Amino acid sequence: MPRVCTVRDVDWGGKTALVRVDFNVPMEADGSIADDTRIRAVLPTLAYLRGQGAKVVLMSHFGRPRGGPEPKYSLAPVAERLSALLGDSVQFSAGESVGEAPERRVHLLEAGQVLLLENVRFHPEEETNDSTFAQKLAKLGDVFVNDAFGAAHRAHASTEGVAKYLPAVAGLLMEKELSALGTALNNPKRPFVAIVGGAKVSSKLAVLENLIGKADSLLIGGGMANTFLKAQGREVGKSLLEADLLETARGLLERARERGVRLLIPTDVVVTTSFDDASAPVRTTGVDAVRADELIMDIGPDSLQAYEAEIARAGTVLWNGPMGVFEKPAFAAGTLGVAHALAGSHAITVVGGGESVQAVEEAGVADRLTHVSTGGGASLEFIEGKTLPGVAALKADCA
Ligand code: 3PG
Repeated sequence: MPRVCTVRDVDWGGKTALVRVDFNVPMEADGSIADDTRIRAVLPTLAYLRGQGAKVVLMSHFGRPRGGPEPKYSLAPVAERLSALLGDSVQFSAGESVGEAPERRVHLLEAGQVLLLENVRFHPEEETNDSTFAQKLAKLGDVFVNDAFGAAHRAHASTEGVAKYLPAVAGLLMEKELSALGTALNNPKRPFVAIVGGAKVSSKLAVLENLIGKADSLLIGGGMANTFLKAQGREVGKSLLEADLLETARGLLERARERGVRLLIPTDVVVTTSFDDASAPVRTTGVDAVRADELIMDIGPDSLQAYEAEIARAGTVLWNGPMGVFEKPAFAAGTLGVAHALAGSHAITVVGGGESVQAVEEAGVADRLTHVSTGGGASLEFIEGKTLPGVAALKADCA
Protein backbone atom coordinates (compact mmCIF):
# COMPACT_ATOMS: atom_id res chain seq x y z
CA MET A 1 0.00 0.00 0.00
CA PRO A 2 1.25 3.53 -0.69
CA ARG A 3 2.80 4.95 2.48
CA VAL A 4 0.25 7.36 3.97
CA CYS A 5 -0.38 8.75 7.44
CA THR A 6 -3.68 7.82 9.04
CA VAL A 7 -6.02 9.08 11.74
CA ARG A 8 -3.90 7.07 14.19
CA ASP A 9 -0.96 9.42 13.63
CA VAL A 10 -2.85 12.47 14.93
CA ASP A 11 -3.38 13.66 18.50
CA TRP A 12 -7.07 14.57 18.29
CA GLY A 13 -7.63 16.24 21.66
CA GLY A 14 -9.59 19.48 21.04
CA LYS A 15 -9.26 19.20 17.26
CA THR A 16 -11.87 19.18 14.52
CA ALA A 17 -11.57 16.45 11.89
CA LEU A 18 -12.77 17.52 8.44
CA VAL A 19 -13.60 14.11 6.98
CA ARG A 20 -14.29 13.47 3.28
CA VAL A 21 -16.55 10.44 2.96
CA ASP A 22 -18.23 8.87 -0.07
CA PHE A 23 -21.93 8.94 0.77
CA ASN A 24 -22.85 8.61 -2.90
CA VAL A 25 -25.34 5.85 -2.11
CA PRO A 26 -27.93 4.25 -4.41
CA MET A 27 -31.49 5.50 -3.84
CA GLU A 28 -34.94 4.00 -4.34
CA ALA A 29 -37.45 5.83 -6.54
CA ASP A 30 -39.26 7.07 -3.40
CA GLY A 31 -36.12 8.89 -2.19
CA SER A 32 -35.13 6.36 0.47
CA ILE A 33 -31.65 4.86 0.66
CA ALA A 34 -31.43 1.56 -1.25
CA ASP A 35 -28.08 0.43 0.12
CA ASP A 36 -26.22 2.01 3.05
CA THR A 37 -22.98 0.00 2.69
CA ARG A 38 -20.95 3.15 2.05
CA ILE A 39 -22.38 4.80 5.18
CA ARG A 40 -21.68 1.76 7.35
CA ALA A 41 -18.17 1.53 5.92
CA VAL A 42 -17.05 4.77 7.59
CA LEU A 43 -18.45 3.96 11.03
CA PRO A 44 -15.07 2.63 12.31
CA THR A 45 -13.39 5.93 11.41
CA LEU A 46 -16.16 7.93 13.09
CA ALA A 47 -16.00 5.74 16.20
CA TYR A 48 -12.23 6.20 16.34
CA LEU A 49 -12.33 9.97 15.97
CA ARG A 50 -15.15 10.42 18.47
CA GLY A 51 -13.41 8.08 20.88
CA GLN A 52 -10.31 10.28 20.65
CA GLY A 53 -12.35 13.37 21.52
CA ALA A 54 -12.38 14.91 18.04
CA LYS A 55 -15.20 17.05 16.69
CA VAL A 56 -16.25 15.62 13.35
CA VAL A 57 -17.28 17.52 10.23
CA LEU A 58 -18.29 15.27 7.31
CA MET A 59 -18.37 16.27 3.66
CA SER A 60 -19.43 14.24 0.63
CA HIS A 61 -20.73 14.48 -2.88
CA PHE A 62 -23.98 12.81 -3.84
CA GLY A 63 -24.99 12.16 -7.44
CA ARG A 64 -24.06 14.51 -10.22
CA PRO A 65 -25.99 17.77 -9.73
CA ARG A 66 -25.47 20.26 -12.54
CA GLY A 67 -23.51 22.94 -10.75
CA GLY A 68 -26.14 24.05 -8.22
CA PRO A 69 -28.46 22.80 -5.48
CA GLU A 70 -30.97 20.13 -6.55
CA PRO A 71 -33.27 18.83 -3.81
CA LYS A 72 -33.08 15.23 -5.04
CA TYR A 73 -29.33 15.29 -4.40
CA SER A 74 -29.55 16.61 -0.85
CA LEU A 75 -27.65 14.62 1.77
CA ALA A 76 -30.51 15.10 4.27
CA PRO A 77 -31.68 11.43 4.08
CA VAL A 78 -28.08 10.34 4.65
CA ALA A 79 -27.84 12.47 7.81
CA GLU A 80 -30.94 10.69 9.06
CA ARG A 81 -29.60 7.21 8.27
CA LEU A 82 -26.24 8.04 9.82
CA SER A 83 -27.95 9.24 13.00
CA ALA A 84 -29.80 5.91 13.17
CA LEU A 85 -26.61 3.92 12.63
CA LEU A 86 -24.67 5.91 15.23
CA GLY A 87 -27.57 5.90 17.69
CA ASP A 88 -26.83 9.58 18.13
CA SER A 89 -28.10 12.67 16.36
CA VAL A 90 -25.96 13.94 13.48
CA GLN A 91 -26.27 17.65 12.78
CA PHE A 92 -26.92 18.64 9.18
CA SER A 93 -25.79 21.85 7.56
CA ALA A 94 -28.74 22.20 5.19
CA GLY A 95 -27.86 25.37 3.30
CA GLU A 96 -24.30 26.10 2.33
CA SER A 97 -21.38 23.70 2.65
CA VAL A 98 -18.94 26.58 3.20
CA GLY A 99 -19.00 30.09 4.62
CA GLU A 100 -20.27 31.75 7.76
CA ALA A 101 -23.22 29.49 8.60
CA PRO A 102 -21.29 26.19 8.62
CA GLU A 103 -18.31 27.92 10.27
CA ARG A 104 -20.57 29.02 13.12
CA ARG A 105 -21.95 25.49 13.47
CA VAL A 106 -18.47 24.00 13.56
CA HIS A 107 -17.49 26.52 16.23
CA LEU A 108 -20.37 25.32 18.42
CA LEU A 109 -19.55 21.61 18.05
CA GLU A 110 -18.50 19.72 21.15
CA ALA A 111 -16.04 16.82 21.33
CA GLY A 112 -17.59 13.70 19.78
CA GLN A 113 -20.35 15.57 17.94
CA VAL A 114 -20.85 15.07 14.21
CA LEU A 115 -21.92 17.61 11.59
CA LEU A 116 -22.66 16.61 7.98
CA LEU A 117 -22.31 19.35 5.36
CA GLU A 118 -24.71 19.56 2.41
CA ASN A 119 -23.58 18.00 -0.90
CA VAL A 120 -20.31 19.66 -1.89
CA ARG A 121 -21.25 19.31 -5.57
CA PHE A 122 -23.94 21.96 -5.07
CA HIS A 123 -20.94 24.27 -5.61
CA PRO A 124 -19.45 24.05 -9.11
CA GLU A 125 -16.08 24.98 -7.57
CA GLU A 126 -15.93 21.51 -6.03
CA GLU A 127 -15.39 19.73 -9.33
CA THR A 128 -13.16 22.43 -10.80
CA ASN A 129 -10.98 22.02 -7.71
CA ASP A 130 -11.12 25.76 -7.12
CA SER A 131 -8.48 26.84 -4.62
CA THR A 132 -10.64 29.52 -2.94
CA PHE A 133 -13.38 26.96 -2.39
CA ALA A 134 -10.83 24.44 -1.06
CA GLN A 135 -9.59 27.09 1.40
CA LYS A 136 -13.16 27.73 2.56
CA LEU A 137 -13.58 24.01 3.19
CA ALA A 138 -10.26 23.94 5.04
CA LYS A 139 -11.60 26.57 7.46
CA LEU A 140 -14.03 23.93 8.75
CA GLY A 141 -11.40 21.68 10.36
CA ASP A 142 -7.91 21.38 11.82
CA VAL A 143 -6.96 18.14 10.06
CA PHE A 144 -8.29 16.74 6.77
CA VAL A 145 -9.19 13.05 6.87
CA ASN A 146 -9.84 11.36 3.55
CA ASP A 147 -12.02 8.28 4.03
CA ALA A 148 -13.61 8.50 0.58
CA PHE A 149 -11.77 5.79 -1.33
CA GLY A 150 -14.73 5.69 -3.76
CA ALA A 151 -14.01 9.31 -4.78
CA ALA A 152 -10.20 9.19 -4.56
CA HIS A 153 -9.85 9.08 -8.35
CA ARG A 154 -11.37 12.57 -8.51
CA ALA A 155 -9.09 15.59 -8.12
CA HIS A 156 -11.81 17.75 -6.61
CA ALA A 157 -11.66 20.44 -3.92
CA SER A 158 -12.91 18.15 -1.14
CA THR A 159 -10.73 15.19 -2.14
CA GLU A 160 -7.51 16.83 -3.27
CA GLY A 161 -7.56 20.65 -3.12
CA VAL A 162 -8.26 20.88 0.60
CA ALA A 163 -5.16 18.80 1.35
CA LYS A 164 -3.04 21.79 0.30
CA TYR A 165 -4.35 23.79 3.26
CA LEU A 166 -4.59 21.24 6.08
CA PRO A 167 -2.52 18.28 7.25
CA ALA A 168 -4.08 15.35 5.35
CA VAL A 169 -4.36 11.78 6.61
CA ALA A 170 -6.25 8.63 5.62
CA GLY A 171 -9.30 7.38 7.48
CA LEU A 172 -9.60 3.74 8.47
CA LEU A 173 -11.69 2.78 5.43
CA MET A 174 -9.22 4.43 3.07
CA GLU A 175 -6.40 2.58 4.85
CA LYS A 176 -8.24 -0.76 4.55
CA GLU A 177 -8.98 -0.25 0.85
CA LEU A 178 -5.40 0.73 0.01
CA SER A 179 -4.02 -2.13 2.02
CA ALA A 180 -6.35 -4.82 0.60
CA LEU A 181 -6.21 -3.74 -3.04
CA GLY A 182 -2.54 -2.75 -2.80
CA THR A 183 -1.47 -6.08 -1.30
CA ALA A 184 -3.52 -8.12 -3.78
CA LEU A 185 -2.01 -6.23 -6.67
CA ASN A 186 1.57 -5.62 -5.61
CA ASN A 187 2.44 -8.18 -2.95
CA PRO A 188 0.05 -11.09 -3.52
CA LYS A 189 0.25 -14.50 -1.94
CA ARG A 190 0.80 -16.68 -5.00
CA PRO A 191 -0.61 -18.09 -7.16
CA PHE A 192 -2.27 -14.76 -7.92
CA VAL A 193 -5.46 -15.29 -9.93
CA ALA A 194 -7.10 -12.22 -11.46
CA ILE A 195 -10.61 -12.44 -12.87
CA VAL A 196 -11.67 -9.72 -15.26
CA GLY A 197 -15.12 -9.46 -16.79
CA GLY A 198 -17.54 -6.82 -17.99
CA ALA A 199 -18.90 -5.76 -21.30
CA LYS A 200 -15.95 -4.23 -23.09
CA VAL A 201 -12.25 -4.81 -23.61
CA SER A 202 -11.87 -1.06 -24.20
CA SER A 203 -12.96 -0.15 -20.65
CA LYS A 204 -10.72 -2.84 -19.12
CA LEU A 205 -7.70 -2.53 -21.38
CA ALA A 206 -5.51 -0.75 -18.83
CA VAL A 207 -6.61 -3.25 -16.16
CA LEU A 208 -5.66 -6.21 -18.39
CA GLU A 209 -2.32 -4.66 -19.30
CA ASN A 210 -1.42 -4.03 -15.67
CA LEU A 211 -2.55 -7.50 -14.55
CA ILE A 212 -0.64 -9.34 -17.26
CA GLY A 213 2.49 -8.01 -15.61
CA LYS A 214 1.46 -9.21 -12.16
CA ALA A 215 -0.95 -12.19 -12.14
CA ASP A 216 -0.14 -15.88 -12.51
CA SER A 217 -3.54 -16.59 -14.06
CA LEU A 218 -5.95 -14.25 -15.78
CA LEU A 219 -9.52 -15.46 -16.24
CA ILE A 220 -11.62 -13.57 -18.77
CA GLY A 221 -15.41 -13.43 -18.88
CA GLY A 222 -18.30 -11.18 -19.81
CA GLY A 223 -18.89 -9.49 -23.15
CA MET A 224 -15.19 -8.68 -23.43
CA ALA A 225 -14.41 -12.41 -23.78
CA ASN A 226 -16.12 -12.30 -27.19
CA THR A 227 -13.38 -10.12 -28.60
CA PHE A 228 -10.78 -12.61 -27.37
CA LEU A 229 -12.76 -15.52 -28.86
CA LYS A 230 -13.02 -13.73 -32.20
CA ALA A 231 -9.31 -12.89 -32.05
CA GLN A 232 -8.73 -16.64 -31.88
CA GLY A 233 -10.83 -17.19 -34.97
CA ARG A 234 -14.10 -18.29 -33.30
CA GLU A 235 -17.51 -17.15 -34.50
CA VAL A 236 -19.43 -15.09 -31.94
CA GLY A 237 -22.66 -14.58 -33.93
CA LYS A 238 -24.49 -11.35 -33.01
CA SER A 239 -22.58 -10.97 -29.72
CA LEU A 240 -21.13 -7.70 -28.55
CA LEU A 241 -17.78 -7.41 -30.29
CA GLU A 242 -15.12 -4.71 -30.51
CA ALA A 243 -13.80 -5.41 -33.99
CA ASP A 244 -11.25 -2.60 -33.72
CA LEU A 245 -9.65 -4.31 -30.73
CA LEU A 246 -9.02 -7.74 -32.27
CA GLU A 247 -5.37 -6.95 -32.83
CA THR A 248 -5.07 -5.63 -29.25
CA ALA A 249 -6.66 -8.83 -27.92
CA ARG A 250 -4.19 -10.90 -29.95
CA GLY A 251 -1.36 -8.81 -28.51
CA LEU A 252 -2.59 -9.44 -24.96
CA LEU A 253 -2.86 -13.19 -25.61
CA GLU A 254 0.68 -13.14 -26.98
CA ARG A 255 2.06 -11.12 -24.05
CA ALA A 256 0.43 -13.48 -21.58
CA ARG A 257 2.04 -16.44 -23.38
CA GLU A 258 5.47 -14.79 -23.36
CA ARG A 259 5.24 -14.01 -19.66
CA GLY A 260 3.94 -17.45 -18.70
CA VAL A 261 0.60 -16.07 -17.49
CA ARG A 262 -2.22 -18.61 -17.81
CA LEU A 263 -4.83 -16.58 -19.69
CA LEU A 264 -8.14 -18.45 -19.75
CA ILE A 265 -11.03 -17.54 -22.01
CA PRO A 266 -14.32 -19.44 -22.08
CA THR A 267 -14.45 -22.84 -23.78
CA ASP A 268 -18.23 -22.98 -23.63
CA VAL A 269 -20.90 -20.31 -23.41
CA VAL A 270 -24.61 -19.75 -22.79
CA VAL A 271 -26.31 -18.22 -25.82
CA THR A 272 -29.71 -16.93 -26.89
CA THR A 273 -31.16 -15.30 -30.00
CA SER A 274 -32.50 -12.09 -28.45
CA PHE A 275 -31.06 -9.90 -25.69
CA ASP A 276 -34.44 -8.56 -24.56
CA ASP A 277 -36.93 -11.35 -25.33
CA ALA A 278 -37.02 -13.60 -22.26
CA SER A 279 -38.89 -16.29 -24.25
CA ALA A 280 -36.07 -16.64 -26.81
CA PRO A 281 -34.42 -20.10 -26.69
CA VAL A 282 -31.35 -20.43 -24.45
CA ARG A 283 -28.69 -23.10 -24.94
CA THR A 284 -25.20 -23.97 -23.81
CA THR A 285 -22.64 -24.65 -26.49
CA GLY A 286 -18.95 -25.06 -27.07
CA VAL A 287 -17.34 -21.87 -28.38
CA ASP A 288 -16.84 -23.62 -31.74
CA ALA A 289 -20.57 -23.86 -32.39
CA VAL A 290 -22.07 -20.42 -31.77
CA ARG A 291 -24.53 -19.75 -34.60
CA ALA A 292 -24.75 -16.58 -36.68
CA ASP A 293 -28.07 -15.53 -35.08
CA GLU A 294 -26.93 -16.09 -31.48
CA LEU A 295 -25.60 -13.84 -28.73
CA ILE A 296 -23.21 -14.96 -26.00
CA MET A 297 -24.71 -14.06 -22.60
CA ASP A 298 -22.65 -16.00 -20.03
CA ILE A 299 -19.74 -18.38 -19.64
CA GLY A 300 -20.78 -22.04 -19.73
CA PRO A 301 -20.46 -24.74 -17.03
CA ASP A 302 -17.17 -26.18 -18.36
CA SER A 303 -15.57 -22.73 -18.33
CA LEU A 304 -16.90 -22.12 -14.83
CA GLN A 305 -15.41 -25.43 -13.71
CA ALA A 306 -12.03 -24.46 -15.14
CA TYR A 307 -12.22 -21.05 -13.43
CA GLU A 308 -13.24 -22.69 -10.15
CA ALA A 309 -10.18 -24.94 -10.37
CA GLU A 310 -7.92 -21.88 -10.78
CA ILE A 311 -9.61 -20.16 -7.84
CA ALA A 312 -9.29 -23.28 -5.68
CA ARG A 313 -5.50 -23.32 -6.01
CA ALA A 314 -5.05 -19.54 -5.68
CA GLY A 315 -3.25 -17.74 -2.87
CA THR A 316 -4.88 -14.45 -3.86
CA VAL A 317 -7.90 -13.75 -6.06
CA LEU A 318 -8.73 -10.29 -7.38
CA TRP A 319 -12.07 -9.98 -9.18
CA ASN A 320 -13.43 -7.13 -11.26
CA GLY A 321 -16.37 -7.45 -13.64
CA PRO A 322 -19.17 -9.99 -14.17
CA MET A 323 -18.91 -13.13 -16.31
CA GLY A 324 -22.21 -12.52 -18.10
CA VAL A 325 -25.51 -10.65 -18.12
CA PHE A 326 -26.15 -11.69 -14.51
CA GLU A 327 -29.11 -9.36 -13.97
CA LYS A 328 -31.04 -11.89 -16.09
CA PRO A 329 -31.43 -15.14 -14.11
CA ALA A 330 -30.86 -17.37 -17.18
CA PHE A 331 -27.38 -15.85 -17.57
CA ALA A 332 -26.31 -15.45 -13.94
CA ALA A 333 -24.76 -18.88 -13.30
CA GLY A 334 -21.23 -17.91 -14.38
CA THR A 335 -21.06 -14.76 -12.29
CA LEU A 336 -22.73 -16.24 -9.22
CA GLY A 337 -20.60 -19.37 -9.60
CA VAL A 338 -17.44 -17.28 -9.48
CA ALA A 339 -18.79 -15.45 -6.40
CA HIS A 340 -19.41 -18.78 -4.64
CA ALA A 341 -16.01 -20.11 -5.69
CA LEU A 342 -14.35 -17.07 -4.08
CA ALA A 343 -16.37 -17.60 -0.90
CA GLY A 344 -15.31 -21.25 -0.75
CA SER A 345 -11.61 -20.67 -1.35
CA HIS A 346 -8.86 -20.30 1.25
CA ALA A 347 -7.26 -17.52 -0.77
CA ILE A 348 -7.18 -13.83 0.04
CA THR A 349 -10.22 -12.70 -1.93
CA VAL A 350 -10.61 -9.10 -3.02
CA VAL A 351 -13.51 -7.82 -5.09
CA GLY A 352 -12.79 -4.53 -6.78
CA GLY A 353 -15.89 -2.50 -7.17
CA GLY A 354 -18.95 -1.97 -9.28
CA GLU A 355 -20.97 -4.82 -10.69
CA SER A 356 -18.90 -7.62 -9.17
CA VAL A 357 -19.73 -6.17 -5.73
CA GLN A 358 -23.41 -6.34 -6.66
CA ALA A 359 -22.86 -9.96 -7.68
CA VAL A 360 -21.22 -11.04 -4.40
CA GLU A 361 -24.05 -9.35 -2.54
CA GLU A 362 -26.66 -11.10 -4.67
CA ALA A 363 -24.88 -14.40 -4.09
CA GLY A 364 -24.98 -13.65 -0.34
CA VAL A 365 -21.23 -14.19 0.08
CA ALA A 366 -19.88 -10.66 0.65
CA ASP A 367 -19.08 -11.34 4.31
CA ARG A 368 -17.09 -14.47 3.41
CA LEU A 369 -14.57 -12.55 1.32
CA THR A 370 -11.43 -10.80 2.53
CA HIS A 371 -12.36 -7.42 1.11
CA VAL A 372 -15.18 -5.99 -0.96
CA SER A 373 -14.25 -2.52 -2.18
CA THR A 374 -16.55 0.48 -1.76
CA GLY A 375 -15.00 2.01 -4.87
CA GLY A 376 -16.30 1.69 -8.44
CA GLY A 377 -14.25 3.88 -10.75
CA ALA A 378 -11.66 4.33 -7.99
CA SER A 379 -10.95 0.58 -7.69
CA LEU A 380 -10.77 0.27 -11.45
CA GLU A 381 -8.17 3.04 -11.68
CA PHE A 382 -6.29 1.57 -8.73
CA ILE A 383 -6.16 -1.84 -10.45
CA GLU A 384 -5.00 -0.09 -13.62
CA GLY A 385 -1.98 0.96 -11.56
CA LYS A 386 -2.85 4.67 -11.60
CA THR A 387 -2.03 6.99 -8.74
CA LEU A 388 -5.29 8.31 -7.30
CA PRO A 389 -5.17 12.09 -6.69
CA GLY A 390 -7.02 11.77 -3.36
CA VAL A 391 -4.36 9.34 -2.16
CA ALA A 392 -1.38 11.21 -3.59
CA ALA A 393 -2.51 14.28 -1.59
CA LEU A 394 -2.16 12.50 1.76
CA LYS A 395 0.81 13.02 4.05
CA ALA A 396 3.50 10.35 3.79
CA ASP A 397 5.71 11.65 6.58
CA CYS A 398 3.87 11.25 9.88
CA ALA A 399 6.45 12.64 12.30
C1 3PG B 1 -18.79 6.42 -7.30
O1 3PG B 1 -19.97 6.16 -7.03
O2 3PG B 1 -18.09 5.71 -8.06
C2 3PG B 1 -18.13 7.57 -6.62
O3 3PG B 1 -18.94 8.09 -5.63
C3 3PG B 1 -17.71 8.63 -7.60
O4 3PG B 1 -18.82 9.26 -8.18
P1 3PG B 1 -18.65 10.11 -9.53
O5 3PG B 1 -18.35 9.11 -10.62
O6 3PG B 1 -19.96 10.84 -9.71
O7 3PG B 1 -17.49 11.04 -9.31
